[in-house]
Amino acid sequence: MSPTTALGAGLKVDVDALPQPLKEDLRKGKVDLHGPATTLALLKLNAFVGINGSFDKTGNLSSVGITCAGCHSTVDDSFAPGIGHRLDSWANHDLNVGAIVNLSPDLTPVANLLNVSEPTVRTVLNSWGPGKFDAGLFLDGKAFNPHQVNRRSCNRN
Ligand code: HEC
Repeated sequence: MSPTTALGAGLKVDVDALPQPLKEDLRKGKVDLHGPATTLALLKLNAFVGINGSFDKTGNLSSVGITCAGCHSTVDDSFAPGIGHRLDSWANHDLNVGAIVNLSPDLTPVANLLNVSEPTVRTVLNSWGPGKFDAGLFLDGKAFNPHQVNRRSCNRN
């Protein structure tokens, strides 16, 4: 995934984690924001707010984890949209969880679990938009709510 895609999905970059020369290159437009290699470099710098990459001995990304800050922190956009100083405990209302899950190349485990097609899962994920998470998909195991009831505000099953 490129930094542009990550920023577009609402992930944030902590400008204070970036070395000065990188900040200067970014300002001059010399950094390739469309290449996954830059995303890996940013992960190594621990620059994505709330996203932790683990790298093996050969420097390959072996796993990625999210922390509370992924949703409960944002940035002030002081450097560029999505790039700035951390604002911890500010909700990240730009985070598009559905889009992020949709970046996964294989969602068949979710589709199989829910007994729906993979395109259906992707359609549902795309329907959420920034700042939204529908527990109905993953936690209740229902792709679409048959009664169109807002499950966050109603406890009826
Ligand atoms: C995937 C996004 C996400 C992650 C990761 C996340 N949260 Fe949350 N958290 C939320 C959302 C959304 C709410 C609001 C839920 C609601 O209002 O129904 C919330 C609510 C809360 C609340 C309640 C706040 C209140 O006003 O009642 C606390 C406390 C909290 N989270 C702590 C944490 C901690 C600690 C972690 C890490 C261990 C964490 N969260 C990780 C999304 C997240």
